Amino acid sequence: MLRKVDVLTLFPGLVEQFLAEALVGSAREKGLLDLAAHDLRDWASDRRGTVDDSPYGGGPGMVMKPEPLVAGIEALAGSKGPERETRVILMSPQGKRLSQELLGELVGTPQLLLVCGRYEGVDQRVIDLAVDDEVSIGDYVLCGGEVAAMVLIEGLARLVPGVLGNPESSQDESFGGGLLEGPQYTRPPTFRGLGVPEVLLSGNHAEIGRWRAEQSRHLTRKRRPDLIGVVGEDREED
Ligand code: 6GU
Repeated sequence: MLRKVDVLTLFPGLVEQFLAEALVGSAREKGLLDLAAHDLRDWASDRRGTVDDSPYGGGPGMVMKPEPLVAGIEALAGSKGPERETRVILMSPQGKRLSQELLGELVGTPQLLLVCGRYEGVDQRVIDLAVDDEVSIGDYVLCGGEVAAMVLIEGLARLVPGVLGNPESSQDESFGGGLLEGPQYTRPPTFRGLGVPEVLLSGNHAEIGRWRAEQSRHLTRKRRPDLIGVVGEDREED
């Protein structure tokens, strides 16, 4: 089970703020997760803290130099190989797409080091020599891996036993069962003229369960037919 996540970044202050607040911050305070942000510039070899350089072959932008990244990764996780206990993940738009399934797999790893790239990318030799996996959070481009690393940490934290007050909450929600979650209501019973579906006030839990399952199937079919499997099959009109 996951117990430690380190983040190697050019913006440790940004990541640190995130690690200190809300659900992730309380997991850390309770001692359920050991979380830390590390400044990549600590491993730069010159006094100016240079971490990037222009790309071989030309082209726009800058590429992250291999020396500081490999030094930082090796200092925090050790050298790549069967002995290494930490799984090193580079946050990258070229990575494997993050999913609830991948979160479930990663939460079984005791220690992770998330490496955040910036600029146009990182020197390929960093990936070859020191990285185990590359992960992306979706098909769009961000300016760096920090926000993606925070997404990954939050998705993992809520799967760690004891982090959520009610252990069922990590299961029932969207994607836990492979479907989207249907609508939710709380008091008041009428708000600006809008009521609450009668069945939810009925106290009949079997019927409430059936209604929720139906809402969930309906919403998924309408919005995310790809999650149901055969796209277009068994489609209802609304
Ligand atoms: Cl992990 N990094 C960047 N820079 N952009 C992304 C991403 C990661 N995932 C989606 N877009």
